[in-house]
Amino acid sequence: MAKQEHDRWMAKEMAQIERQRDPFPWFREMRAEGPIRYDEKRDAYDVFHYDEVIEVMSDWERFTRDGTSYIDGAMMDRGPPEHTELRGMAEEYFRPGYVRDFTPAFEQRADALLDQALDGTSELNFVEEIAKPLPIMIIADMLGVPEEEMDTFRQWSTRLAESPAKLDEDKKRDTEERKAEAMQQLSAFFEREIEKRENDPRDDLITKFLKKEEESETITRQNTIAQCGMLLIAGNITTTSYIANAMWTFIEEDVLDDLQDGSMELEAAREEVLRYRSPVINAKRYATEDTTVAGMEIPEGALVVGYLPSANRDGQIFEDPDEFRPGRELPKQPVPFGKGIHYCLGAPLANMEAEIMLSKFLERIDDAELLIDEIEPFFSSEIFGPVELPIRVTT
Ligand code: HEM
Repeated sequence: MAKQEHDRWMAKEMAQIERQRDPFPWFREMRAEGPIRYDEKRDAYDVFHYDEVIEVMSDWERFTRDGTSYIDGAMMDRGPPEHTELRGMAEEYFRPGYVRDFTPAFEQRADALLDQALDGTSELNFVEEIAKPLPIMIIADMLGVPEEEMDTFRQWSTRLAESPAKLDEDKKRDTEERKAEAMQQLSAFFEREIEKRENDPRDDLITKFLKKEEESETITRQNTIAQCGMLLIAGNITTTSYIANAMWTFIEEDVLDDLQDGSMELEAAREEVLRYRSPVINAKRYATEDTTVAGMEIPEGALVVGYLPSANRDGQIFEDPDEFRPGRELPKQPVPFGKGIHYCLGAPLANMEAEIMLSKFLERIDDAELLIDEIEPFFSSEIFGPVELPIRVTT
């Protein structure tokens, strides 16, 4: 992906630390002006209202994801029929019934992390010690990354999730270069792992994807490699931000007691976190034809960006959208996981990881407080969440 193109993904208004920390007043302002605006500087259309964000995300014939991803050849940036086949390759392994079978293994991973994080210390960095390691371990376990390679795998994954250090151009370039390098190494890694399974099949997703590749006339080795890499990237920082946004919100809203004594359901609270602080900021598409959205003309080839956190706080749909109210009535479903053919494949997995980690954490502590006044945000056009969450716990 050309850097210039990548730069167009982030609206200039979002490229400030205050907006990254709290983009919601800006979204509110933009929604008040209308469902969609044209940004001349980026030659891009930004979409803020719930109905129009859904329209752009789900009408794949008019709006394609092709060309919006770092990794070429995976389901994410393909349309039908390729998308159907690539998604079909992985779909059954991410259904709730399938991932539920992994519960004991996931619980063990969560317990081990909590043992370490809560080992005699009262202060911890919730992101670094808890929210970050779990998703990477789980996807690595599912794919079948050997234990001894886990550290290298984690380093690549961390690099790929790095935020392009604020607005410093040199650092930004370094980050991009490190990312490209990590991407190459990761692809080479999966290429080797796939080859190993040609003669030594195992009970893991890499082997299952390889079988699908062998049975298919259209899926190439490059697709299989891209699929593995993409799963690692897609489910990593997103789930970390989900778990971190949940803890940040629970402490800020003072609902830890309610969650612990059961007067507030964790499931309802998690779902409201996904609406209130949606971890994924934007859904990017390119118009495949001259078209219109909410009466605005959009030419073929134009970049169109839908803002999920804005859709999920659209006051025309959700009452008092800026209030955190678990169990609220929902006239329409919030869309933190997208909509349409690209609806998040990993949504059941992400929910399960968050449920396991948050419930265990709440069981093991009495109370928690934030040790910072202002959140240090993950500086990104894609992800909304803290990079650090220092907290003090009593156990
Ligand atoms: C809270 C955590 C997560 C959030 C908020 C999230 C959000 C999203 C969103 C919004 C999309 C649609 C993007 C678009 O339409 O442009 C998406 C797609 C996708 N997500 Fe997630 N995701 C999360 C976790 C995961 C996990 C754990 C995995 C897998 C390990 C995963 C795998 C995928 C894949 C493969 C797609 C592309 C599906 C397709 O193109 O058919 N995600 N996700």
